[in-house]
Amino acid sequence: MSDNHATRGLPRVALITCKELPELDPDDRLLAAALAERGVTAEPRVWDDPAVDWTDYPLAVLRSPWDYPTRHTEFVAWAGTVPGLANPADLVRWNTDKRYLRELAAAGVPTVPTEWIAPDTGWNPAATGEYVIKPAVGAGSLDAGRYDLADPEHRGLAVAHVERLRAAHRHTMVQPYLDAVDTAGETSLLFFAGPDGPAFSHAIRKGPMLEGPDHGVEGLFRPEQITPRVPSEAELAVAEQVLAALPGGPRRPLYARVDLIPGPDGAPVLVEVELTEPSLFLAHEPGAAGRLADAVLARLG
Ligand SMILES: Nc1ncnc2c1ncn2[C@@H]1O[C@H](COP(=O)(O)OP(=O)(O)O)[C@@H](O)[C@H]1O
Ligand SMILES: [Mg+2]
Repeated sequence: MSDNHATRGLPRVALITCKELPELDPDDRLLAAALAERGVTAEPRVWDDPAVDWTDYPLAVLRSPWDYPTRHTEFVAWAGTVPGLANPADLVRWNTDKRYLRELAAAGVPTVPTEWIAPDTGWNPAATGEYVIKPAVGAGSLDAGRYDLADPEHRGLAVAHVERLRAAHRHTMVQPYLDAVDTAGETSLLFFAGPDGPAFSHAIRKGPMLEGPDHGVEGLFRPEQITPRVPSEAELAVAEQVLAALPGGPRRPLYARVDLIPGPDGAPVLVEVELTEPSLFLAHEPGAAGRLADAVLARLG
């Protein structure tokens, strides 16, 4: 069928997923439907499927390749072989390692204070305080945990967590736990490419994800509590600041998601900017799937 489409000249777009989700996430099926309404055939394609010829696609949109964190080198190398990749491969390389937060902080973006632990260095835990331990290359809140370092049991589990990541040669992040997430939640702001640069589409509130020490999770991601949200002026301003500081400028991404949590003074701080595998929460906003489909169409020219 896709060959017929190709011969009839209808545009084809790959929506890139992983082998655990061969028919995409339900949210991305909304995008596929919105593209179909616009005469574009969206084909789910698994990123590491050797049978896919990526040169068949003028545009290949990363959506749910959620199994890459333990295969990061392979994933980034693969991204470099996909001619029509969105977001572009160099942004994917940059964005899949949260050490980019250091660059954004240097550019003036408010970020969570972070201690970075390389695989070959040790960690001296603080005496007290609640901390998050998570990998620099991670997704779906996997391998992330929350520890009260004054509690001897938590302290032992925190040290073991860092050791586990180090043994797997993963860079580790240690951050103070931003406890406003327990009440205010986390705000994700979604932007899609428009003629004048990234255009704000919608936002959601995500409930707190970390209840305590990491004991592992079955599956690709921890379950999330999502509700629609109207972002504050301050949140919009930080998101714009993040987009302006992206490598190559704000106009390159097809989509971007900026995740913020209020810091100790209540002002929003950046947790991550997602350019690779964000859930876009299209089901929570009427019209969002259509807006993204329009952005895809514009990229197809
Ligand atoms: N410093 C922090 N304070 C409070 N919660 C945090 C912090 N860092 C991460 N979290 C929680 O863990 C989740 C996953 O962390 P995140 O950095 O977004 O990694 P991922 O790429 O896995 O989504 C966040 O959605 C948030 O709920
Ligand atoms: Mg996140």
